[in-house]
Amino acid sequence: MGQKTEKQEKIKFEKFYAADKGKEALAWHHQKPNRFIASVHESRSEPGTAIDLGCGSGVDTVAMAKLGWTVTGLDFMEKAVVMSKEMAEQEGVSVDYHCANAFDWPEDTQYDFVLDSGLLHNLPREEIAKYKKKLLQQRKNLALKG
Ligand SMILES: C[S@@+](CC[C@H](N)C(=O)[O-])C[C@H]1O[C@@H](n2cnc3c(N)ncnc32)[C@H](O)[C@@H]1O
Repeated sequence: MGQKTEKQEKIKFEKFYAADKGKEALAWHHQKPNRFIASVHESRSEPGTAIDLGCGSGVDTVAMAKLGWTVTGLDFMEKAVVMSKEMAEQEGVSVDYHCANAFDWPEDTQYDFVLDSGLLHNLPREEIAKYKKKLLQQRKNLALKG
């Protein structure tokens, strides 16, 4: 994703995060963790490594960390990362959060579980094929939720 597109993409999310009314006020907020987390977790003998691309306020990263996964949370909005860190701290779990564009995350970094809950379906159409290719290089289990 080029710098111009990244700037345009961030504008889409700024109005939500700038409202600063807490995670419950975000349009995509969900109280319960993404349902794929439990199914991937139950399919394994032990927790593994996971990345949540576009982690938002951290509901899913914190849920995975609570199950014992080694979790990376990534979001290109600074406010999202701040909210996620606060939630992890409140819940007493450790998550490795990064403020970065998912397109720039190293492709050679492998995870047992790659979660995308709401990033892909917000992408401009012309960026989707490149993003999917990247996802497939990073995963063993891949969960995509629109
Ligand atoms: C619809 S929200 C979903 C948040 C969270 N996954 C959830 O389910 O609650 C999409 C999130 O993806 C982030 N995002 C969108 N495009 C991104 C990109 N290219 N790189 C990193 N984060 C991105 C946005 O900032 C936003 O927090």
